[in-house]
Amino acid sequence: MSKEKKSQTVQTTGHAWDGDIQEFNNPLPTWWIWGFYITVVFAIVYWFLYPAWPVGDSYTKGMGNTVEYTTKEGEVVVTHWTTRALYQKEMQAAREQQAVQLAKYSKLSFDEIKKDDAMRAYAISVAKVLFADNCAACHQPGGAGLISMYPSLVDDDWIWGSDYKQIETSIRSGRKGVMPSFSKTLNEKQIDDVAYYVLNYSSKQNDFARVKNGKEIFNTNCAACHTQKGIGNIQLGAANLTDKIWTVAGITAKMKDKDKINSIKQVIKNGIAREMPGWENRFSDLEIKMLTFYVNELGSKQ
Ligand code: HEC
Ligand code: HEC
Repeated sequence: MSKEKKSQTVQTTGHAWDGDIQEFNNPLPTWWIWGFYITVVFAIVYWFLYPAWPVGDSYTKGMGNTVEYTTKEGEVVVTHWTTRALYQKEMQAAREQQAVQLAKYSKLSFDEIKKDDAMRAYAISVAKVLFADNCAACHQPGGAGLISMYPSLVDDDWIWGSDYKQIETSIRSGRKGVMPSFSKTLNEKQIDDVAYYVLNYSSKQNDFARVKNGKEIFNTNCAACHTQKGIGNIQLGAANLTDKIWTVAGITAKMKDKDKINSIKQVIKNGIAREMPGWENRFSDLEIKMLTFYVNELGSKQ
């Protein structure tokens, strides 16, 4: 009954299957039809305004906005609208903003940067990126260094000094820490005694005869660089031997004295040749300033 009623009000396509299955011919909703037309119009307008259709090995460029931007290298580019150009434009704006910010730093002294929390934080964030890209390969992320290979920049020990000026020189010109090998100049007993004496600087040893022997050998062979007091010489990059930080020998507090002495003996026998490359030509003055500030902040001061 109700089926009959429906077939009277709604048109069908006229097809029938299995006798009574029919296909309704409902008109599409008006809102849908309008939506469809609008998208068609939109598409056509879009094709004219924006890059759209492939043509040969190129494409239609659209008649919409042109985009103008300056590349990192200073070249001015005017191009049809592309998202890549928009991205370049954003990068340009960011660079300009950064340049304004950075320009402030050329006028500030290190102490002024340190005093201003915002300036300090920004300098560190810029330098951190430079450090990660250029220095962390050797000095490790965060500057912890690798025992005997690359000195730690976060500890209290500075081979070449912790002043801004000294750190800047380390970065600009590079550093070369050279200590000769004593395996031919000194015999085993002498090396043993002088190592014993070196350890005596930072933790007192009780074999006085051995200390006395070692001291003589040290004053003759080592004091020229390390000084008689063993405090080292930052002009030569000769390590301070009186502290408990061993950047080459790799001695840790947990080691037994016998092992500490063996590590020191290894250094005396092998000598040292470590080199830090200079960065003068690879960074701008401002970048070196940022890095100098950052490295100084990393380490605590002597
Ligand atoms: C190829 C490895 C290498 C790279 C890369 C490197 N360094 Fe060094 N750096 C060294 C070595 C090795 C030394 C120790 C030189 C010595 O023993 O005299 C050193 C020493 C230093 C010192 C002196 C430390 C002290 O105790 O006085 C500073 C500061 C320093 N580096 C900063 C940097 C900065 C900043 C960068 C990145 C711009 C950098 N280094 C990149 C290997 C490297
Ligand atoms: C020509 C100068 C020179 C002479 C001579 C010299 N040293 Fe050194 N020594 C250095 C330098 C430079 C370093 C640090 C190198 C570096 O960090 O790259 C060093 C480092 C060391 C270290 C490693 C310290 C550490 O922190 O791990 C020990 C130990 C040491 N010297 C002992 C001696 C002893 C003992 C003698 C004498 C037998 C001696 N040195 C003679 C220049 C010298």
